Amino acid sequence: MTRPIAHAVSRRHAVLAGAALGLAAGSGRLRAAPGAFTIRFSHVVAEDTPKGLAARRFQALVQERSAGRITVTIYPEAQLYGDHDEVQALQLGAVEILAPSLSKFGRIGFPEFELFDLPYFFPDVARVRRITQGALGQRMLARLERQRLVGLGFMDNGFKHMSANRPLLEATDFVGQRMRIQASRVIAAQMRALGAQPVTLAFSETRRALAAGVVDGTENPVSNFWTQGMQEVQTDLSLTEHGYLGYAVVTSQRFWQALSPSDRALVRDAMEQALAFGNQIADTQNEKAFAALRGYAGTRIHALTAGQKDRLRGAVQSVHAGLAQRIGADWLDQARSALQRTE
Ligand code: LMR
Repeated sequence: MTRPIAHAVSRRHAVLAGAALGLAAGSGRLRAAPGAFTIRFSHVVAEDTPKGLAARRFQALVQERSAGRITVTIYPEAQLYGDHDEVQALQLGAVEILAPSLSKFGRIGFPEFELFDLPYFFPDVARVRRITQGALGQRMLARLERQRLVGLGFMDNGFKHMSANRPLLEATDFVGQRMRIQASRVIAAQMRALGAQPVTLAFSETRRALAAGVVDGTENPVSNFWTQGMQEVQTDLSLTEHGYLGYAVVTSQRFWQALSPSDRALVRDAMEQALAFGNQIADTQNEKAFAALRGYAGTRIHALTAGQKDRLRGAVQSVHAGLAQRIGADWLDQARSALQRTE
């Protein structure tokens, strides 16, 4: 599961080196066979996750519908690029498609995406979809233009739980714990509100950091927890369901505009179907991982009582008002009215 440090270092240099060597030239552009090209899809999670399987579905659809003319090569588990360098790699043309979690868009200039990180904001995935599958979600994707990105759609993973080498059931349990987080100010504020110390780390470094004791705990849906082998380095998983984790699939304007209108439609349709498939299987993938985890003796699973959840909710409530300015009052108002709408 662990990766040699040399690999991580060489990967960091690969963005610029790849661009400099012209590795991008053969991919995302015309090759010798007329109209043939490759789409490189880089992501950070394991293949057997909602995102990993949606990427595979996209690959199969594109290759089938283009009769093999368009190849999709998937680089899972941050094999090519990770949280630190993937957006730069996309902008430089070293990859064509990414699917970062929504939590990772704040750092690149889209703090409104951090509204998805607000703790205990969404009662269920159906309510999240009112935003991601509605007009507000479309407006958010349209914003990505400012960084020369094109948003192709959203996809769910599910709700996150807290893990550590102790149960995390009350805010007092978090005090002094160093918790790995994604680069989101909202998640950092959430951990601080609980008395923990947030430590931002790339996903690909998380398991190793947990194993080495650099951090004490983290948060993720069970599918990520299990497929990264975090159960081997965490004794307790507390089912807090405190926050949502989902993704936005992005490509670069440079790649998108170079496609013919018919290829653009082919890629867009295939992605829409792959994301719908990902949304369909997200729950079952998390349940599958949860069933496997239940059979694993090394990690204790703690269900929270309603009272414990209420107290955690109360402890992080200040994050909503505290981060409203960063997220943007307008975005928050629109999100709240989508959530409150009766359907
Ligand atoms: C994380 O960094 O914890 C997640 O965003 C990983 C992922 O892509 O699901």
